[in-house]
Amino acid sequence: MNYKKNVKSYICKDEDEMLKLGKEFASKLKKGDVVSLRGSLGSGKTVFVKGVAEGLKISDNITSPTFTLVQIYNNSQLQMNHLDLYRLNSEEDFYNIGGMDFLSPTGITLIEWTEIINEILPDNTYFINISILDNLNREVTISFKENE
Ligand SMILES: Nc1ncnc2c1ncn2[C@@H]1O[C@H](COP(=O)(O)OP(=O)(O)OP(=O)(O)O)[C@@H](O)[C@H]1O
Ligand SMILES: [Mg+2]
Repeated sequence: MNYKKNVKSYICKDEDEMLKLGKEFASKLKKGDVVSLRGSLGSGKTVFVKGVAEGLKISDNITSPTFTLVQIYNNSQLQMNHLDLYRLNSEEDFYNIGGMDFLSPTGITLIEWTEIINEILPDNTYFINISILDNLNREVTISFKENE
């Protein structure tokens, strides 16, 4: 099977611009989509998710799932799942926390630190990669695996 990879790249000059990018990106999302977020500690993955939540009209306060592993939110129409795998070590750990439930099409699932589940991310996964350029500037690339 061939994949066409669409890649778009953005510079966010501060936290507000990252929130705005997440909010705009949310308009593309539909039920069943998975969003993988990668980038070093403090690069802005959770800030991006806050923007997505705003775009999805989720009014709850979004908190980092670093310790809870999973946070679940709802708007009137769909569920948004936010996972953070930083504290897990392997794909097996992911199975053990019931992670597969969040890869099945029950809502929109955003996952930080997806390196350990690279092999099992579904085809409809958006990849968000964030690099820290300096104190406030971040480079964000967004790509999507698309069947040709
Ligand atoms: N352009 C920017 N975009 C996003 N965050 C920024 C930006 N500039 C500065 N920041 C700051 O960087 C931090 C990003 O924190 P955030 O929790 O989103 O990172 P993270 O990638 O989720 O980290 P972790 O891997 O620990 O979960 C915040 O303190 C935020 O204020
Ligand atoms: Mg985070």
